[in-house]
Amino acid sequence: MASNGGDPPMVVTVTGAAGQIAYSLLPAICAGRMFGPTTRVALRLLEIPPAMTSLGGVVMELTDCAWPLLASVTATSDAAEAFAGANAAVLVGAFPRGPGMERAELLAKNAGIFKAQGAALDAGAAPGCKVVVVGNPANTNAMILSHFAPSIPKKNISALTRLDHNRAVAAVAAAVGAPLGDVGGVCIWGNHSSTQYPDVTRATVAGKPDVNVVEVMGGQQALSETFIPTIQKRGAAIIAARKMSSAMSAAKAICDHMASWVGGSDGATVSMGVAGAGEYGIEAGTFFSYPVTCTGGEWSIVEGLTVDEASRKYIDATSQELQAERSDALSVLSAAAESKL
Ligand code: NAD
Ligand code: LMR
Repeated sequence: MASNGGDPPMVVTVTGAAGQIAYSLLPAICAGRMFGPTTRVALRLLEIPPAMTSLGGVVMELTDCAWPLLASVTATSDAAEAFAGANAAVLVGAFPRGPGMERAELLAKNAGIFKAQGAALDAGAAPGCKVVVVGNPANTNAMILSHFAPSIPKKNISALTRLDHNRAVAAVAAAVGAPLGDVGGVCIWGNHSSTQYPDVTRATVAGKPDVNVVEVMGGQQALSETFIPTIQKRGAAIIAARKMSSAMSAAKAICDHMASWVGGSDGATVSMGVAGAGEYGIEAGTFFSYPVTCTGGEWSIVEGLTVDEASRKYIDATSQELQAERSDALSVLSAAAESKL
């Protein structure tokens, strides 16, 4: 894991910083769970003007925690200030889906946010800045952000699907009765939505080479009827129970995502929403969750996996949903451009 003990602190921008994910995420960053136990961080916290008072309270709490790794905190509602010199950016802030809101309407609200933040990142981020988009619809927001941040290499922009990955790993570990760390080969394909495909067809359990995870989990039919929809709809189940979306687990997943990306995944397969080059028949440039490994600060899509017929159907369905979101987002953006909004 990178260390910058005597170096300038790492500048980390977090948007939506007064929200509930950030309330779990910010202490985790300051405790070294994202960049390691010796890397100091300078936090740049972005919020919308009505949330600045609340963000002031978060800053007071961060200060009162007396984190040794926290070099400084800046709270702002100015995107240019928030992204200036950013080495890492976690884009959590987004327009929430209201009751009865259509997908196109949600996309339209968020397209404006990610267009503006993409432009601010493009203008001010440090070279090599790594970006993870969390705010939903995360994959399509990442696509919009990337479009408006042309100087940032696509490989440096990602969407969070590690939460789905962690959910799948936890479910497999429980099903086979193994420690979480022993479960490997699980991955999430596609969109961070209810069409995602949590794939356990190559799952392994360390120390138990004879265990066939698919069989232990009841076979393909049981996977289709229980495990897959449970993971696909886990976010909605948490919202139904908490009346708020996942926050603690989302914050943990964001730290895992960045820690793997920056510090390496030690050969393990993890899941990241990234713009591929057409791997597995997915349109190049689509921000699609793939199985990846990370080393030297770079992700690589795991290639050459055999995709069975059932898996192919799930992968195609989530790919189609992403193409539809992309086309909705592009029509919103071109309508906005035509009316000079
Ligand atoms: P929240 O409503 O508690 O917080 C969001 C914050 O973002 C609010 O404080 C809001 O003021 C701020 N915000 C809105 N627009 C902004 C902008 N333009 N710039 C800066 N800040 C802005 O929501 P939350 O629970 O923290 O969730 C945030 C987002 O993350 C939601 O879109 C949620 O659906 C999504 N989410 C994604 C995953 C994932 O795995 N990808 C998991 C959980 C939640
Ligand atoms: C989750 O997966 O928990 C969230 O993305 C759900 C949501 O819609 O905020």
